[in-house]
Amino acid sequence: MRELTDKLYETRNIEKSEFLYMLENRTEESDKYLFEKARKVSTSIFGNKVYIRGLIEFTNYCRNNCYYCGIRCDNMNAQRYRLEHDDILNCCDLGYKLGFRTFVLQGGEDLYYDDEKICNIVRDIKKRYNDCAVTLSIGEKSFETYLKYYQAGADRYLLRHETAEKSHYSLLHPKQMSLESRMECLYNLKKIGFQTGCGFMVGSPYQTNESIAEDIMFIKDFKPHMVGIGPFISHKDTPFNNFENGNINVTLFLLSVIRLLLPNVLLPATTALGTLDSNGREKGVLAGANVLMPNLSPVNVRKKYSLYDNKICTGEEAAECNICLRKRMKNIGYEIVEERGDYNEKA
Ligand code: 5AD
Ligand code: FES
Repeated sequence: MRELTDKLYETRNIEKSEFLYMLENRTEESDKYLFEKARKVSTSIFGNKVYIRGLIEFTNYCRNNCYYCGIRCDNMNAQRYRLEHDDILNCCDLGYKLGFRTFVLQGGEDLYYDDEKICNIVRDIKKRYNDCAVTLSIGEKSFETYLKYYQAGADRYLLRHETAEKSHYSLLHPKQMSLESRMECLYNLKKIGFQTGCGFMVGSPYQTNESIAEDIMFIKDFKPHMVGIGPFISHKDTPFNNFENGNINVTLFLLSVIRLLLPNVLLPATTALGTLDSNGREKGVLAGANVLMPNLSPVNVRKKYSLYDNKICTGEEAAECNICLRKRMKNIGYEIVEERGDYNEKA
């Protein structure tokens, strides 16, 4: 086990069979050793810096019906909302004052926001804050649309692949959605020049060790600039309401493996991790994560952007989360910085 961790650390590479062995034979002790190695790598590149991204959840309308997600279109209990152009810019104003230099616009696949609307929002944010990065996370679009977003000034795009195994993908999504089109989107985003993020949920229904191994092999091959992984958390108004939540320790293990595979990757300790464990985000950073994505959405809509149950930080003001996270990071010897925190190939 230790040999495999050392090999991964030294070669920044892992074979599928080696990964499966590590995943299946993890112990508390082997995890500890792995986390240390991952932390050593992240510290050597980022020091004790943690980047923050202001997450603006601007619409919970969604045309899709993913079985795991609380804002799926069939969920009649979701109270739908949209933020308009100026609401979004107001979030950025507050965010900028709080030290954010990246804004993430995330939403369901909501066709109300056509290309022109999104591009206008992106252009206005970039005009007002020329020292900030804009990340979009609004799902699957055509190559042409992605290109328009990029030309309007968007810097990054997050689109989790959700699972790299075709059979698993079709157990998580209705038949209108396919792994093939997901992957096509990811390759298009990268080709256009976005800093591109993929990712998956840990412990999603029907996930096997084999599917996790496929995720890791895909990530190794695709070389994303960002990877979003967090535990699956069941949502009461979805077909997966009776499934168990994902495991924190497996999530931390995977964060470390990804850090060792892709040393420069931008790797968030997700809100889902913080939801299942009150110190989840700290644990994530100590396992090699280097990004936090606190909520910048207006307080009155936060509870409505409910992808999973019991999400944290839905009642707090942005400023409160900001102070809280700074303290939390300071407690473990890390510091939140006022930087864009772009992907750096050469680091
Ligand atoms: N639990 C955890 N993560 C979820 N997501 C959606 N629903 C859930 C859930 N129930 C994740 C998906 C999506 C991202 C925005 O949130 O991976 O890509
Ligand atoms: Fe939101 Fe701590 S980060 S309250």
